[in-house]
Amino acid sequence: MDKIQITGGRKLQGEVNISGAKNAALPLIASSILVNGKICFTNVPDLMDITSIRLLLEDLGAECNVSPGCLEVDGSLIDKIEAEYDLVRKMRASILVLGPLVARFGHAKVSMPGGCAIGARPVNMHLSGLEALGATISIEHGYIEAKADRLVGSEIYFDMPTVTGTENLMMAATLAKGKSVLRNAAREPEIVTLAQALNKMGAKIEGAGTAIITIEGVKELHPADIKIIPDRIETGTFMVAAAATCGDILIKGCEPDHIGGIISKLKAAGAIIEIFKDSIRVVGSKTIQSIDIKTLPYPGFPTDMQAQFMTLMTIATGNSMIHESVFENRFIHANELLRMGADISIRNGNIASIRGVKELQAAPVMASDLRASASLVIAGLIAKGTTTISRVYHMDRGYEAIEKKLSLLGADIKRMK
Ligand code: EPU
Repeated sequence: MDKIQITGGRKLQGEVNISGAKNAALPLIASSILVNGKICFTNVPDLMDITSIRLLLEDLGAECNVSPGCLEVDGSLIDKIEAEYDLVRKMRASILVLGPLVARFGHAKVSMPGGCAIGARPVNMHLSGLEALGATISIEHGYIEAKADRLVGSEIYFDMPTVTGTENLMMAATLAKGKSVLRNAAREPEIVTLAQALNKMGAKIEGAGTAIITIEGVKELHPADIKIIPDRIETGTFMVAAAATCGDILIKGCEPDHIGGIISKLKAAGAIIEIFKDSIRVVGSKTIQSIDIKTLPYPGFPTDMQAQFMTLMTIATGNSMIHESVFENRFIHANELLRMGADISIRNGNIASIRGVKELQAAPVMASDLRASASLVIAGLIAKGTTTISRVYHMDRGYEAIEKKLSLLGADIKRMK
């Protein structure tokens, strides 16, 4: 299994280009199931999770062509409605094929996603939403089976905003008969870009980006060319890495409008931030101020940036508090940071108090999930000595060429096979 070795102490300097967003690409690629034709995606990041969804679509019968940054998916050849355990277990987001399959073929069988390191992550709202659209749902032998002659538009209320739940139901409702209204919908930029792409394919969706999304069902969708938006979490991760190392970097090809919460919090922590149309300059300050954070659904502070900010706070002046309110078990990285000399205590499983220390020390550490791996990379960049991070397959799921990008910014980082 690959490991990453980082010798800390270098300031990041220079320019970095942001890749396409994983969490935008996954539902968009799943949406090609809805179309009897070929969709061409560009700005597709080269990531394990993208390979996973492509292999899943290929297993369903879709024809996929991969070239650098591009993916073509021909959904006209899909002849299987079952997403198998061996493919789904590699990536929970595989649940995103459920809505499109039942909407287009009237039948879907998808392996139930299992437990996850960061929380229970049930899919009950995806299923009750599909039931509201008229599907009959059964769960047997670890598989969710959904059946419907044709989905019928309906009112769907989410008990809490769910990103992939909103995406699944928005996709399903595009081919339903009549009008659907999703209330308390997630408002992430990934929802907006999915709605725009579906509309480009002929769907009639309004309100994406607000808590109420209206979908007027259509009979069929048509092919379109879709460009993946920049990854706001990769952007934020480089911003924190620059601030933590007291660096000075220009982050290019990003979307500043999508990261308001991250910008505000980094400014409060003392970083100097210049915002341009599609780039951001971050200049770290020698003294990092402690700040408090509470993760929330968008436009609140993203849970996917919580771990990286925790690393930053380990070397801030004073005490900070991080409240993780989206997932119930997303502090596993804290134990690894403790091994590097951080001073963190956790209350009720989801509130972390961090007392800033003068410096972190290098140590062998283990990544437990994607964003935890990013927090450990940032810890390695600032720690004294050489840190080895194992289980970096988590990182490869969602950060394209991260060690190459960091090396170009001056980091002493290498991958060991
Ligand atoms: N939830 C339920 N029932 C459901 C669905 C969700 O109780 O049916 C709960 C979850 O357990 C969680 C909360 O609702 O407590 C919000 O979860 P959400 O459904 O929004 O998360 P998700 O759609 O499974 C996406 C991202 C995650 C990101 C979260 C929150 C993708 C593919 N994944 O997950 O990204 O953390 O939204 O923003 O879009 C990552 O990229 O590292 C990652 C984990």
